[in-house]
Amino acid sequence: MNTHDVIVIGAGVTGLTAAWRLAEAGQEVVVLEARDRVGGRLRTDVTDQAGAPASFEIGGQWVSPDQDALISLLAELGLPTYPRHRDGDSLYVGRDRAARRFAEDLPVSPSTRAAIAELTKKLDELAAAMDPARPWELADARHLDSISLRTWLEEQCDDAEARDNIALYLGPAMLTKPAHAFSALQAVQMAASAGSFSNLLDADVILDRRVVGGLQSVPIELARRLGDRVRLGQDVTHVAWTEEGVVVHVGDDAYAARRLVVAVPPTVVRRIRFTPELPAEQRIAREHQSFGLVVKVQAMYPTPFWRADGLDGTAFGPYELVHEAYDNTPEGESRGVLVGFVSDVNADAVGALDAEERRERILDALATYFGEQARHPIAYVESDWQHQELTGGAYGTSFDLGGLTRWGHVLRQPVGPIEFGSSDVAGLGFQHVDGAVRVGTEIAAGLGARATA
Ligand code: FDA
Repeated sequence: MNTHDVIVIGAGVTGLTAAWRLAEAGQEVVVLEARDRVGGRLRTDVTDQAGAPASFEIGGQWVSPDQDALISLLAELGLPTYPRHRDGDSLYVGRDRAARRFAEDLPVSPSTRAAIAELTKKLDELAAAMDPARPWELADARHLDSISLRTWLEEQCDDAEARDNIALYLGPAMLTKPAHAFSALQAVQMAASAGSFSNLLDADVILDRRVVGGLQSVPIELARRLGDRVRLGQDVTHVAWTEEGVVVHVGDDAYAARRLVVAVPPTVVRRIRFTPELPAEQRIAREHQSFGLVVKVQAMYPTPFWRADGLDGTAFGPYELVHEAYDNTPEGESRGVLVGFVSDVNADAVGALDAEERRERILDALATYFGEQARHPIAYVESDWQHQELTGGAYGTSFDLGGLTRWGHVLRQPVGPIEFGSSDVAGLGFQHVDGAVRVGTEIAAGLGARATA
């Protein structure tokens, strides 16, 4: 059995970033990945459904300007980016179900607009006061963690459409859970992790750029640099550990190391048996984490027909099955692509339909925004991560009510020689690739520091 300095479980961006930084520091590293590919929640697929090959982002894809850890990694790896198409008017569908165009101000009543601005200001103030890596330290943390975002919004504002719009940005669009299912503190952490709540509201910030060739290029390039230190098809089922080191079991094979990095989502840590067992608090903390649910849908058309109508492809509505949609046409592609998202309880509803009916319902929903042409794509791709055992949902995991103040501090705590991390436990960049880069970098720095101490 080969003995390494560090074993990393998981070849997502967190694990590969940690491994690459450790390898650069001269440590003997091996990365064990259960799937037959690297990237975890990043996957760029090519299909020829539309007659000629077309590339689709099945997982994460956007980069925002404040995500400086990811942006500097992209520069280091030599991976160029391009901006999302954004010329033209956007569309909003409110309570009357009519699609309205707008350029600047949301087409709602002046009082609803004022109420949205007021709620945005309050959330920005709370986010500015919070360290997203330590949300439990916010002055009013215990109270905010004991009530749902929905309850908090009801306490602050009596305009239902304003509340539903704010809930949309933090619930379906970000944590991908209904606003009654996570705490106001968890919502503020989401905002603080993106710099501010205003940033989450602004598609030109949060969905700014894409990577040429797809965001999976990041883990692919990291893995290329790591070479045969990355082993695919290695589903780790058992870890035996002492204070001195670990033995990691994959089927009949075993790997030994002084340190272990478990770079998988908190909910997926449970698939691994530890001997001796992890402290009870570690298990309980992760039992109070769950993935949100979202179905990402992409429809390709012979042309980006909405552009000819003066539309930018951005559309949203708090009461719609597809609560948000964007122009997702890759750079240099003459055919047009729309991406839409079906989240939380709506994801449950479409999940219960057969494939044909689901496609029809989702295309109907796109047609509410973009008209009849949206019903007739030449290619149609759904990605739903809840059925994948090694992930279990999208985009990431979050706590149930009260969990963040009770157990938030546990998820990053090492146990003996074992470190835990993924984008789900990031402060800045929480649930985003930027957070994965940060967590991987921090873990590697900690191990490097300890190794040379
Ligand atoms: P990740 O889950 O990617 O990696 C964990 C790895 O561990 C996986 O490869 C898994 O197979 C492996 N593994 C698990 N258990 C194992 C075991 N026992 N043994 C061996 N290997 C094991 N982010 C963003 O910044 N911009 C965006 O636009 C989006 N959009 C988006 C859309 C969709 C549909 C999804 C699913 C996600 C996003 N995200 C996103 C989120 C982003 O993709 C996510 O935060 C990071 O990719 C997570 O990277 P990690 O490495 O932390 O975990």
